[in-house]
This record gives sequence, structure tokens and C-alpha cells, in this order.
Amino acid sequence: MDFQDLEQDERMIARERLPEDRDEKGLRPLTWDDYSGQKQVTDNLKIFIEAAMRRGEALDHCLLYGPPGLGKTTLAGIIANEMGVNLRITTGPAIEKAGDLAALLTNMQEREVLFIDEIHRLNRSVEEVLYPAMEDFALDIMIGKGPSARSIRIDLPKFTLIGATTRAGMLSAPLRDRFGMVHRLELYKPEELRVILKRDADILGIGIDDEGLDCLACRSRGTPRIAIRLLKRLRDYAEVRGEGIINKEIAEFGLEQLAIDNMGLDHTDRRIMSSIAEKFLGGPVGLETLAACTGEDAGTIEDVYEPFLMQCGFIAKTPRGRVLAPAGWKHLGLTCPADIDRKLSGLGVSGTANTPDSQISIDEMMGNNGGEKG
Ligand SMILES: Nc1ncnc2c1ncn2[C@@H]1O[C@H](COP(=O)(O)OP(=O)(O)OP(=O)(O)O)[C@@H](O)[C@H]1O
Ligand SMILES: [Mg+2]
Repeated sequence: MDFQDLEQDERMIARERLPEDRDEKGLRPLTWDDYSGQKQVTDNLKIFIEAAMRRGEALDHCLLYGPPGLGKTTLAGIIANEMGVNLRITTGPAIEKAGDLAALLTNMQEREVLFIDEIHRLNRSVEEVLYPAMEDFALDIMIGKGPSARSIRIDLPKFTLIGATTRAGMLSAPLRDRFGMVHRLELYKPEELRVILKRDADILGIGIDDEGLDCLACRSRGTPRIAIRLLKRLRDYAEVRGEGIINKEIAEFGLEQLAIDNMGLDHTDRRIMSSIAEKFLGGPVGLETLAACTGEDAGTIEDVYEPFLMQCGFIAKTPRGRVLAPAGWKHLGLTCPADIDRKLSGLGVSGTANTPDSQISIDEMMGNNGGEKG
């Protein structure tokens, strides 16, 4: 994505890392104490780490997946820190050739952690080197060419691979199967974001009161990265328009200026919802069609916008496409069609209930959305 082309309010809400997030590093928690939320994932990891430490072994390979900005990279850092070992960081697209990966792996120390971000973007030949490395801690190297070629095996130190991806569905099955644990990160609840915001405001020396924190925590799309970015922007409003403290008034004023509504939706969210309402009479509409009509990339809708809209209960995913749920019509200020309940139940969605994220099946999250047509 070309960040230069993004409008101001879209930049604010983008989950991807933007140039203005560069001082994120100083805020990144290094220990469990500072890492809020994701309780299920962290509870499990704490046990597995302690068990591995007691046995003096490397931690099992671990796949972290979930939308951008929820703390995958942060978590990898904490894991290495808690294991008391080095973290080596790379990304899928940076490992171009099998040899690059071989060089990385042969340089690892016993129990060290290798973090591969965007692991779904590894190329096939590199992936094939990874299989025996993960499974048997060995590299198979071909020597020579033609009939005299032979393969030799080199032993590797027992290391831990942590893979991160926003697209678990794009990972090949053999790769996914080689991870001893797979953890999905969830969108954060407002009370969890509040703790994160409080900590970060203290570190950055930003004054914010309780109401300001509540307001921000509820309108950051369940995403720490967005919460931190909004916190910094609101500081500017507080300094120029207020007394330097982010209170309810400043928070509401600032968020309105940034075109973020009372649920934390930006104008792309609203455009996606109003397209479903106006062009498709509430849906169902396939992802590709929706992408074409809104001018957004299908992957971005799926990774970035949809999870939050589904968590709000504004849209629902059905085998035949996306539909606008009653809460979504209401949020847009539009009259919900009279036959909505019948239509939704015909599609296997309960009409009035919210569709919390936890109800999304693993298949949907993994991108296997039931043969939906685009
Ligand atoms: N659980 C948490 N507690 C406190 N701060 C957090 C937490 N999760 C994330 N953060 C903050 O949010 C920022 C973004 O998190 P991080 O870079 O780890 O996300 P990510 O999932 O790796 O994103 P991407 O998919 O874009 O790589 C971090 O710098 C950190 O300050
Ligand atoms: Mg990351």
C-alpha cells in the first residue's frame, strides 16, 4: 500500500505500521507484566515456556496469527526474553533463496528464537528447507549435479521458530502442521486497551484523565497500534485546543476531527457498510464484488476492516457472502428492511443477535470461507 495516498483519517485508523509509528519500539512491552490482554494465549505460553525452561529445552515452534497491530512481534520479543535467549528477526519476503535461510539457521545458537514475520510470504523453495529444519533440526543439502549429485544432512541447533502472519489461510498445510502451537490473537476489549493506553501515556508523559481513557479505549478498533496512534494525535489537540490534558471533551473533539465515529469506525468502514446497504440491498455480496465496488483491496477488507465490523455485529459472513446485520443498518441511520430476519435466518445467521468474533469458526479465520463466490 502506498501510504502517501492515504487520507489523514485513513492513516489514523490503518492497522499497518506507518512511518509515524516508529517510536512504537520504546512502548513495546518486554515482559508479561506489561503485556495486557490475550489472556488465553499468554496463560498457555507461560506454562509452555516454564516447562521448556525446566527441561532445558527449546520452546516448541509457535505460529501467531491475527490482524495487524495486535502484538505478534511484541509477543515474540517477550517469549525470547522470558526464555533468556536471543531473538533473531526476519520476514518471509526477505528470505529470497534457500541458501539465505540455511545461512540463518546454521548461525543459530541452541534454544534461540528465530522470528519470521509475514511467514505466509515465504517462497516454496525456502519453505522446503524449513520442513526438516523444524521437524528434525536438520538441513538437507544437495551436493553436485546430475547423476553424481547426493544429499548430505547437517545437524542444526535446537531452536524455536516463531512465525507471524495476518493470513493463516495462506499458509501451506505442511508448514502449518509443523508448528507445535498455533495461537490466534484477538481484538482487545476496551478495558484491556485502557490499561495499555494508561501505561503508554505514562511513558510518553501524556496527560489523560479517566474519561479520556474510556473514550479512546472504546474507539480504537480493539487494536493497540491504533490506540497508541490516536493517543499521540489527541495529545496535539489537548495541547493546542485544551489545557494539555486529554479529557472527554478533547477526546470527542479530536476523534470527530479525525472522522472516527462513536464506535471507532472510519469512513472506509462506513463506505463498506453503505455499499452493502445501498448497492446490494443489504447483501449477501461476495468479497471480490464488494472490493471492486468500494475500491479497496479484497485482502485488506478481509484482514483489516471485516474482523472489527463483525465483532461490532454490523456485518455477518455467510456462505453466500457478506450481509449487513440489523445493528449495521441502525448504525448507518438507515431503515432496516422489514424482511431482514427472514433473510438472515435463510442464510443461517440469527437476525438480531450480535456476531461476536468468538463465534467465527476457525475455518473462516483460516480463510476457508465455505466456497463463497466473489
Ligand atoms: N498486549 C499488549 N500490551 C501492551 N502493548 C501492546 C500489546 N500489544 C501490542 N502492543 C503495542 O502495540 C504496538 C504494535 O504491536 P506489534 O508491532 O507487536 O503488532 P503486530 O501484531 O506485530 O503487527 P503487524 O502484524 O503489523 O506486524 C507495539 O509497539 C506495542 O507497543
Ligand atoms: Mg509485527
